[in-house]
Amino acid sequence: MKVLVVGSGGREHALTWKLSQSSLVGKIYCAPGNGGTAKIAENLNISVDDIEALANFAEEKDIGLTVVGPEAPLVIGIVNLFEKRGLKVFGPRKEAAQMEGSKSFAKSIMQKYGIPTGFAQTFTNYEEALNYTDGHEVPLVIKADGLAAGKGVFIAENKGEAKKALEDCFVNKRFGLAGGKVIIEEYLEGEEVSLLAFTDGKTVLPMVPAQDYKRIYDGDLGPNTGGMGSYSPVPAVTSNMYDEIVSKVLRPTIKGLANEGIEYRGVLYAGIVLTKDGPKVLEFNCRFGDPETQAILPRLESDLAEVMLNVADGCLGQHGNLKWSSKNCVTVVLASDGYPGKYKKGFEIKGIEDANLNDDIVVFQAGALLNGGKIVTAGGRVLSVSALGNNFKDARERAYEAVEKINFEGMYYRKDIALRAVRN
Ligand code: GLY
Repeated sequence: MKVLVVGSGGREHALTWKLSQSSLVGKIYCAPGNGGTAKIAENLNISVDDIEALANFAEEKDIGLTVVGPEAPLVIGIVNLFEKRGLKVFGPRKEAAQMEGSKSFAKSIMQKYGIPTGFAQTFTNYEEALNYTDGHEVPLVIKADGLAAGKGVFIAENKGEAKKALEDCFVNKRFGLAGGKVIIEEYLEGEEVSLLAFTDGKTVLPMVPAQDYKRIYDGDLGPNTGGMGSYSPVPAVTSNMYDEIVSKVLRPTIKGLANEGIEYRGVLYAGIVLTKDGPKVLEFNCRFGDPETQAILPRLESDLAEVMLNVADGCLGQHGNLKWSSKNCVTVVLASDGYPGKYKKGFEIKGIEDANLNDDIVVFQAGALLNGGKIVTAGGRVLSVSALGNNFKDARERAYEAVEKINFEGMYYRKDIALRAVRN
């Protein structure tokens, strides 16, 4: 079977890498892919949001399965289009992708079906939103309703910051239409974990938990990024807590959506905060997480292509539980100096081959391109280095040992990834 992977990040390199291990998979194409996917697949010059061109390509090449990585094409309806044209595709239709595409939609599903989450209210009017903040204790979380490339979430520590965030959305229209509707919600305090599940809208197969490091600097300081590292499993998620998240969050959400006439097929990503009152949902995403995927997939022993086909065919119930390695995985993201602000591109990356020391280490590329036989930096998050180990100490040491073999001008990474897990 020929496979098309849509996207260009470390997540898509990890998906392509895992799919390439399946006996069901022959040639893989990536649109547009990156320097890493170029080695195991054929990269295409088609952007992720050109969904007509992607469908034309899939039809022309007789692609057996298209796997969609990022949220943007899902939210604009790539799956609806592919299905209309009789093409098999892994990911939620646009109605279901609203779980990420509209924060207020996701909150309304949570509120209606009793999914544990913080209090929240939605506004389309600046004055009303501002008045609401006056009546509530800070910190408050202010979110643009639609997709805002990860930049539409503000934690307002005081009333001035809340006013500024609301002005950015409503008055300065910093997020265009995405910020014309705003959701103001409770700030949830506690450790964050990501629990992702495969689902065909009926059966839910949860994955192993992972934890992401969102801030740029060690000690969780500095601005938010797309994610600077991750690890799996998460010691703070005990087996009881895991069962609680599956039974109180993942399953009822999928059931609630079905009750609304929305069949959710693909990956549902629950961002959970472990509050003192139990696990509560911070957000849902309609896709794999990045860099969580780079720490989860190295542990997956089941055939990813088979699971994805079962999801796309709506017969996930016939798949047994997923099989996972008992090893721990640690992923360290290597970024360009200046990220998440301005940074320079085009620097040669050396040492990737030396870093891939053995089967337990894999270097996933993201903002990296193959240029005249050399791999060069092309983005903020450049590489992610994942290492498996018998325990977190071992996995962490291997990951950082591999990181030290790599270099490019301005390479920056956090030194404290998974330290918390080692200490736990
Ligand atoms: N790592 C966070 C995300 O994928 O949204």
